[in-house]
Amino acid sequence: MAQIGSIVISPPLINTACAWASDLDQLQALYESPFTGAVTTRTSTLTGYNETAVCGVVFTNSTTSSLNSYGFSPLPLSSYLGWVKDILSAAVQSSSVVKPFIISITASTADELRPMIALIQAAAFNALLNTSCPNISSASPSGYIPSSIHPLLTALAEAHTQDKTLTIGLKLPPYTFRGQFDAMVNVLKECRVCRPDCSWRTCRRCFSTALSLGNVHTFHKLLHGDSQTDAGLRGICIIGVGGVTTPAALAHMRRAGASVVGAATLLGETRCWSF
Ligand SMILES: Cc1cc2nc3c(=O)[nH]c(=O)nc-3n(C[C@H](O)[C@H](O)[C@H](O)COP(=O)(O)O)c2cc1C
Repeated sequence: MAQIGSIVISPPLINTACAWASDLDQLQALYESPFTGAVTTRTSTLTGYNETAVCGVVFTNSTTSSLNSYGFSPLPLSSYLGWVKDILSAAVQSSSVVKPFIISITASTADELRPMIALIQAAAFNALLNTSCPNISSASPSGYIPSSIHPLLTALAEAHTQDKTLTIGLKLPPYTFRGQFDAMVNVLKECRVCRPDCSWRTCRRCFSTALSLGNVHTFHKLLHGDSQTDAGLRGICIIGVGGVTTPAALAHMRRAGASVVGAATLLGETRCWSF
């Protein structure tokens, strides 16, 4: 079990945003699976992404790995909010255990992001800002560009100040050298996405989804190590993603510092749909 803000994730295993969390049937199946402690929607934009024939995914023959060229969902955020609302309403009506949803969104500017966050807040759901998609030819992942991510995080921090119940997350791209990690931690600190007066033990309303084992380990050290004195940063939970296809890989992520572990490619394996 893991707790991030108001979200309880039990078991601490989720699907990450992907093409297998695209429509109502897939989201329903993920919701009903006993192996997911929360469900993440495919990343959507306010009006839908222009998906072309070059978007797709391939798998390796002998290992569980994939290569994908998808951008974001062709469906707008409103579709996901409607489906999630329907799934949760049905769960409440049938007195089933209610599982949290994480609404994955993306935007390249703060002006684009604000109305999306407002819609998510109005529905009382949780938001994950995807800053990591490498497949958009017209835009580099904002997670690599501090000057791009700064205004986005400031917009999230403002939304958070207005509504303390909003749990927000960031999906970060994989970083390769120390300066990139430090720059990201500085942006998180400057933007105060997690308030400085948060108490480490009681407030964990923010999370970041870090891609790959090494990244999880480094962020864990930087955010939660003894030298980190900023309570806001210490309160950020890490969701570890990338290559989790076995119980051993899951255990490695947890040992590296992930509170919650996510998987995408595993879901694309047909056999996994029999959960
Ligand atoms: C077909 C496919 C579609 C994906 N779509 C998204 C997406 O919409 N948003 C997102 O944040 N990540 C997306 N991802 C990335 C996954 O969430 C995940 O970070 C990545 O695949 C690594 O995890 P894995 O090794 O478990 O697949 C996608 C991955 C795949 C394979």
